[in-house]
Amino acid sequence: MINNACVKTHAFSEWNRNETGKTSAYIRNRRIQGIMRLDKYLADMGVGKRSELKKWIRSGKVRVGETMIKDPGFAVQEESEVFLNGEQIRYRQYVYYLLNKPSGVISATEDPRQSTVLDLLPEQRRKDLFPVGRLDKDTEGLLLITNDGVLAHQLLSPKRHVDKVYFARLDKPAEEKDIRAFADGIELDDFTALPAELSIPDPEKPEETLVTIREGKFHQIKRMFLAQGKEVVYLKRLSMGTLQLDEKLEPGEYRELTDEELCGLKGRV
Ligand code: URA
Repeated sequence: MINNACVKTHAFSEWNRNETGKTSAYIRNRRIQGIMRLDKYLADMGVGKRSELKKWIRSGKVRVGETMIKDPGFAVQEESEVFLNGEQIRYRQYVYYLLNKPSGVISATEDPRQSTVLDLLPEQRRKDLFPVGRLDKDTEGLLLITNDGVLAHQLLSPKRHVDKVYFARLDKPAEEKDIRAFADGIELDDFTALPAELSIPDPEKPEETLVTIREGKFHQIKRMFLAQGKEVVYLKRLSMGTLQLDEKLEPGEYRELTDEELCGLKGRV
């Protein structure tokens, strides 16, 4: 039986012994998982920009195990013991942020003109982060930002029917007939929405509603209400699967997911 950890370790030590100086090309070409340049390891962990990290490594601020390493291309593994100025920097392959998206920023990774949700994260963040799904520019609330493509795919896959709950305030009161129409599945121009749950938590405020949908088409909730002759004037996502918006986060604030939240999400999909 082949033990993956053994294969990885062997390839790794062979590399540093034989091919110093060509690490990144080697890693790119051979795609050996878990092996990377020392400067990339540190940059991924958000401790500095690649250019300054190279300088710090060359000036002797970085140690791998007991050995000072001055080559930014030195190959390390996720499991390596890397120290910057004596402080251990542990590698994490995936990161997960829970953002309370504010209105006015777009759910994209970059844009030449507009602020994106990634601009709200620290400047020295991983370069492979992306938002899991999109909220409209004027929609607020829960947005998961990660570099875990597998989890994102599972959460967004139409086959998995992950519940997304939104608070929607309308320009006029929601009615019983809207609740029934949402439950039946509303026909829109290009598709028929899956049955959704609409509720009015406070009968004194019938324009304030909760909506649960299991898909994520463009402007879906706004279009579903428009088909009922009502306009959404405020929209906020409250949950996605088991993940709830943390009400302690002000719009624009974020935090990392707890282990429980991550396990809950992974267990659900
Ligand atoms: N439905 C919408 O209409 N907009 C969103 O941002 C999310 C769901």
